[in-house]
Amino acid sequence: MNALDTAYRHALKPILFKFKPDAVHEAFTTIGEAAGRFAPARKLLDLAYNYRGPDISKTVDGIRYRTPIVLSAGFDPDGRLTRILPALAFGGEEIGSVTAHPCAGNPRPQLTRLVRNKSLVVYKGLRNEGVDALISKLKRTRRIPGFVLGISIARTNGPAAATDVAAGSPRCSSGEAGIRDYSESFEKLNEANICDYFTINISCPNAFTGETFADPVLLARLLPRLREIPCTKPVYLKMPINVPWEQFAALLAIADKNKIHGVIIGNLNKNYSDLAYPGDAPKQFRGGLSGAPCWKLSTELIRKTRDRYDRRFTIIGCGGIFTPEDAMEKFAAGADLIQLITGMIFEGPGLMKRICERYASTAAS
Ligand SMILES: Cc1cc2nc3c(=O)[nH]c(=O)nc-3n(C[C@H](O)[C@H](O)[C@H](O)COP(=O)(O)O)c2cc1C
Repeated sequence: MNALDTAYRHALKPILFKFKPDAVHEAFTTIGEAAGRFAPARKLLDLAYNYRGPDISKTVDGIRYRTPIVLSAGFDPDGRLTRILPALAFGGEEIGSVTAHPCAGNPRPQLTRLVRNKSLVVYKGLRNEGVDALISKLKRTRRIPGFVLGISIARTNGPAAATDVAAGSPRCSSGEAGIRDYSESFEKLNEANICDYFTINISCPNAFTGETFADPVLLARLLPRLREIPCTKPVYLKMPINVPWEQFAALLAIADKNKIHGVIIGNLNKNYSDLAYPGDAPKQFRGGLSGAPCWKLSTELIRKTRDRYDRRFTIIGCGGIFTPEDAMEKFAAGADLIQLITGMIFEGPGLMKRICERYASTAAS
C-alpha cells in the first residue's frame, strides 16, 4: 500500500464517510466527469493511479482490455465517467444499467453504508436517464482509445414494462411488455454502435416485480427475441447469486442454447443474514447488498460454472473484491476478467493499480 492509499484510508475516507452515500456518489460523478474533460486533471490522476508495469492486456471475445479490471454496472449509469476511468487502471467500464425509458429510481436513500460489514445496501432501483439520453451522451463524448465500453441493459423499472407480470409469480405471466422493453433498448444501442459489448441484466433485486427474467421460463422467451436483433458484439448475462444451483444451471443452459457469449457472476446479495453483522442491516428489505456479502456466493458460482462448462462461457467475476488477493482468487476460480465497485469505494482509487501489479507479478512467476 503506497502513500496515496494510506492518505485515502486515513484522511479522505473518514471525511467522505461522514456524508450521505447518495450525495458522495453524485459529487464524485460530477467531479469525475469534469476531470475527464480537462487534460491536466486526467494526467495527474494517471500519474498517481494508472498501471505502468509489464503488459497485462487480455483479449476476451475479440476485445482487447489493457488491464483485466472493469468498473461494474451501476456506478456510472449514464456514461459520464468514460474519460476519467482509464486513468485509474481500469481496462473498461460497464455503463448502465440503462433502460428504455428514464427512471428516477426508488425513494431515497438509494444507498446505505454498512461500514463494518464492508457492504452497501443498494436501492437505486435502476435510476438512469434512459437509452436515448445515453446514446446522445456517448455520441457527444470523445472516446479514450483502448478503453473498453460495455453497456448493461435492464427492463425499465415501473409498472408499464411489467403489466403482464404478477408480482411474485412471473411464471403466470408472458413477460411480453418486459421483452419489448429490453428489445427496444438493445435495438437502439446496437444500431448506435457506441460500445464494445452488451450485458443483459436479469438480476436487479430492487426493481418493480423483482428479478422477473431470472426465471428460466421467462429467460427462455427473452433471449430468442433478443437474438432476432442482428448483433456482432459479445452479449453477456448478469447473473443472480441467490438462486439455488439448479436454477442457476437452468439459466446457464438457456444462455448456452441462445449463443450468449458469457456470464457476469454476479449481482447483489439479497440475503441480509449473510452479513458479518446482520443487526446493522435495515429491518425490512431495502435493496441488495454489495461488497463482502457477495464474495463467497459469487466465487463458488464462478468455480461451478467453469467446472461444468469449461471454456464455453467467458466468465466475468464480480462481488466483494477488496484486495489483490481477492482478485487473484476470482481468477483462480475461473474468471477471465473481473469487475468491482465497492472495493474501490472502501479501499480507494489505488486498488485497481495494486491488483494490476499483483496480476503482473503472478503472470511472471
Ligand atoms: C451503487 C451500485 C449500483 C448498482 N447498480 C447496478 C446496476 O444498475 N446494474 C447491475 O447489473 N448491477 C448493479 N450493481 C451491482 C454491481 O454491478 C455488482 O454486481 C455488485 O455491487 C457486486 O460487486 P462489488 O462487491 O464489487 O460492488 C450496483 C452496485 C452498486 C454498489
